[in-house]
Amino acid sequence: MSKPRVLVACAVFPQVLQRLREHFDVQAIAEGETWRQDEFTRRLVDQQGAFITGTHRIDASVLASNPQLRIVANMAVGYNNLDVAAMRAAGVVGTNTPDVLTETTADFGFALVMAAARRMLEAEKFLRAGLWKRWRYDMFAGSEVHGSTLGILGMGRIGRGIARRGAHGFGMKVIYHNRHRLDTDVEQACGARFVGLQELLAESDHLVLVLPYTSEAHHIIGAAELACMKPTATIVNIGRGGLIDENALVLALQAGRLAAAGLDVFEGEPRVNPALLTLPNVVLTPHIASATVPTRLAMADLAADNLIAFFEGRGALTPVF
Ligand code: 8YV
Repeated sequence: MSKPRVLVACAVFPQVLQRLREHFDVQAIAEGETWRQDEFTRRLVDQQGAFITGTHRIDASVLASNPQLRIVANMAVGYNNLDVAAMRAAGVVGTNTPDVLTETTADFGFALVMAAARRMLEAEKFLRAGLWKRWRYDMFAGSEVHGSTLGILGMGRIGRGIARRGAHGFGMKVIYHNRHRLDTDVEQACGARFVGLQELLAESDHLVLVLPYTSEAHHIIGAAELACMKPTATIVNIGRGGLIDENALVLALQAGRLAAAGLDVFEGEPRVNPALLTLPNVVLTPHIASATVPTRLAMADLAADNLIAFFEGRGALTPVF
């Protein structure tokens, strides 16, 4: 019997690719290659399954040109690159990789808070440039992390992980805003208090964005919201670039209306707003919050398991709808 045809559109661990090849007739992207969206759409024709990351979109036009497609396994927990309504209408299953990356991504969110607030990268560059000649009381003096107020916008699994780190590890006062308030026992376990968006903006010493990116959440942090924040505050984004109006953020940072930022995600990545690159008080990382070897392997395995279970007739393990 012939194996189902699966397109692997992103680089993946060799052992996971090997496992996929055991189950499927695989067409995989070559090492070092990148497929733009049009190339991806072309390659997808006649494929029954796809293994992708956030780089590629599945929308009505992709679906229309690929009537054979039955399942898309997204190697990411966020799935704003999947047009869920169009996939549902076309009868194509979508899956993501929840849970396996929660703690690793929360670690990184916290690392960005630390790095931005304590000016670690700015200081490191200074040292490497040979500029360290003497001690000064205010040299790279940043803002306090322990005991300060940590604000979390988006209190899903990762947001709760960050809250626990702040409340229980760093003695922080943790406040959060979310579409729905969490149950009291969950709030207690995270040491977090529900507040309105305005209060979150006004009270946070460090604000972390970790909500899913949807059309309603586009630029949820813009000029008006940034203006409500403390000038000593830091902002961290590990969700999606489009959550922040980057131009407004640049202006706020340039004008000293905000102390620092830590950004792992960008509007239009891998392109980065050139103005951000010129600012010393921004820590920039290339979308690596989930990037530890064990976690990325677990994500790849889960995406592969979804494809395998689906084509074995057991149903997808982690469908997004
Ligand atoms: C992924 C992420 O590595 O899971 C997510 O939603 O943002 C990252 O963990 C990235 O999206 C790969 O597409």
